[in-house]
Amino acid sequence: MSRIAYVNGQYLPQSEASVNVEDRGYQLADGVYEVLYMKDGRFLDEDLHMKRLERSLGEIRITPPMGRAAMLRVIREVTERNRLRDGLIYMQVTRGVARRDHAFPARPVPAAMVITCRRTPPYPKSAEAFAGSAISVPDLRWARCDIKSTALLPNVLAKQAAREAGAYEAILIDRDGAVSEGSSTTVWVVDANGVLRTRELSHAILPGCTRASLLEQMADAGIASEERAVTEAELRSAQEVFLTSATSFVKPITKIDGAPVGDGKVGPITRRLFELFAQHAKGGSNIRA
Ligand code: PDD
Repeated sequence: MSRIAYVNGQYLPQSEASVNVEDRGYQLADGVYEVLYMKDGRFLDEDLHMKRLERSLGEIRITPPMGRAAMLRVIREVTERNRLRDGLIYMQVTRGVARRDHAFPARPVPAAMVITCRRTPPYPKSAEAFAGSAISVPDLRWARCDIKSTALLPNVLAKQAAREAGAYEAILIDRDGAVSEGSSTTVWVVDANGVLRTRELSHAILPGCTRASLLEQMADAGIASEERAVTEAELRSAQEVFLTSATSFVKPITKIDGAPVGDGKVGPITRRLFELFAQHAKGGSNIRA
């Protein structure tokens, strides 16, 4: 069965789906995106992702192509036409089609929207089997990383460096020597003192929906953490490191730049949070302490 994509009002086989060469997303990366995970036919943290999409659009002054309810209907339609139950949904919204000019189109054009989806491997069963490694690279990005922009070139280059090193993720180190985030993930650390930390929200990082969701579940379960940036040295002396994202869930990192994290095994806090999030993804009630 060929995959079906939504492109500006039409549902088309993906091989026939295309955008205009004057689409500002293509010409200028003038757009934003979202990635939603679907498990057992249910969108995970749907409200957080839709809110973030609306926020990203607002920050770059794109009028949404439709309201939230209508957008959710389109997303649902794409998943149904693709018979998707477990996988990822990608949404891209750009400033639309207009003669190439860096400034916004003088006469406003409607925003363009593309929605695609794809199946993914089953949800990981054990933290141990899901563990991976990371490398560290300089953070070469712009000053508004809180906007989920489709302009991903520094992230692309960082992820490619990880791929070439045989690692899962590239952890970005900012100009001040602090960990920003991963190329497509939020970074969490259990520091040398045993304190669970993730960087505070600011323009320097994407406000991860998985981060927000996990923090909520941790609050329910009585698990404490601090929102405070980690230095590169603290990353290297951490007892545990893990990543979160819509596509990585809670992903243990047991090696960074070839050196083991802590004792090189998945730590107890990471395992607990992996299980807490797996429970949430299952749609079950939160595990309480
Ligand atoms: N990436 N930081 C960056 C730079 C990201 O691109 C992402 C998500 C995250 C985690 O956000 P969330 O928990 O909302 O997925 C953090 C998505 C998955 C992607 O680009 O494919």
